[in-house]
Amino acid sequence: MKPHTICIIGGTGFVGRHLAARLAKDGHHLRILTRRREQHRELLVLPTAELIECKVHDEEALRQGINGADVVINLVGILNERGHNGKGFHRAHVELTEKVISACKARKIKRLLHMSALGADAENGPSFYQRSKGQAERMVLESGLQATCFRPSVIFGHDDSFFNRFAGLLRTTPLAFPLACAQARFAPVHVSDVVEAFTRAIDNPATHGQSYALCGPKEYTLEQLVRYTAKQLGVSRWIIALPDWASRLQARLLEFAPGKPFSRDNYNSMKSPNVCDGPFPEVFGIQPSSIETVVPNYLAPRRGRATYNHYRRLARR
Ligand SMILES: NC(=O)c1ccc[n+]([C@@H]2O[C@H](COP(=O)([O-])OP(=O)(O)OC[C@H]3O[C@@H](n4cnc5c(N)ncnc54)[C@H](OP(=O)(O)O)[C@@H]3O)[C@@H](O)[C@H]2O)c1
Repeated sequence: MKPHTICIIGGTGFVGRHLAARLAKDGHHLRILTRRREQHRELLVLPTAELIECKVHDEEALRQGINGADVVINLVGILNERGHNGKGFHRAHVELTEKVISACKARKIKRLLHMSALGADAENGPSFYQRSKGQAERMVLESGLQATCFRPSVIFGHDDSFFNRFAGLLRTTPLAFPLACAQARFAPVHVSDVVEAFTRAIDNPATHGQSYALCGPKEYTLEQLVRYTAKQLGVSRWIIALPDWASRLQARLLEFAPGKPFSRDNYNSMKSPNVCDGPFPEVFGIQPSSIETVVPNYLAPRRGRATYNHYRRLARR
């Protein structure tokens, strides 16, 4: 396989860090665009990575940023916006994707891999998140580029913000843990399987024009996942599944808390099951990992030097 020059937008986030490490292992040259280079210098331990500060919403800056790449990967996504009217989602998902497509065309880059999400649906998605993800996905597939979209369920890995967030909440909440949307369904997929699917798609023409749902091997309710997290931590909490009205109220209140830990848009997203209709797409030849084989290894936090060592290990240095 010939090494490519791959530009990753959104490459500094949870999925992006894993994907960059995986692609560097194959010897690809990486141009990782970020709005804040100083905050992500740890990525520079990857031997073939360039970390480039870029105002990705500025069309000229974006064209410069992707210049010289033969593959572009767009991972940008937000779970919550600053306001409450969907404009933030539209800007990050729809407008930026439009600019990425147009920059690819301007620079004659044909191959585009795009991160969408399970439940993305331009018309019928119950949340701004899902509708904007759906619009972006549709634009990518209709762009005329050699495009591939990925629609994962919730993604887990040692530095995820799902199990780690619930672990943090469970540790700091004494006795009773009120859980909104307890019956929402997920099929968590391991970040290594997601990035492997991206990696194998790059040179596979059979994936052009396709959109792939990515799930782990088992489905769970949110309540089962939170109980599982508590068990791994060895903490005993009374997990109270809130009725729908109380879930909505919790969303309404927490969207005004610092960092917006839960919002009405998150609540709306959980109305549609985050699970797949079939197994992991055969085209990738991947047997997805279960949470039971991975999560027990990482619920203890990794900090400072350990993070650096982790990237060195991934980069085999
Ligand atoms: N994590 C999951 O469970 C999950 C599940 C389904 C789908 N997804 C999708 O997978 C993608 C990656 O998720 P993740 O968990 O890795 O996210 P993340 O850790 O929050 O990273 C998001 C990345 O996007 C960039 N970004 C964030 N807001 C932006 C904005 N307004 N404009 C431009 N760039 C922005 C950030 O780059 P800089 O700040 O460096 O510029 C960062 O690298 C997203 O599209 C997400 O919707 C994730």
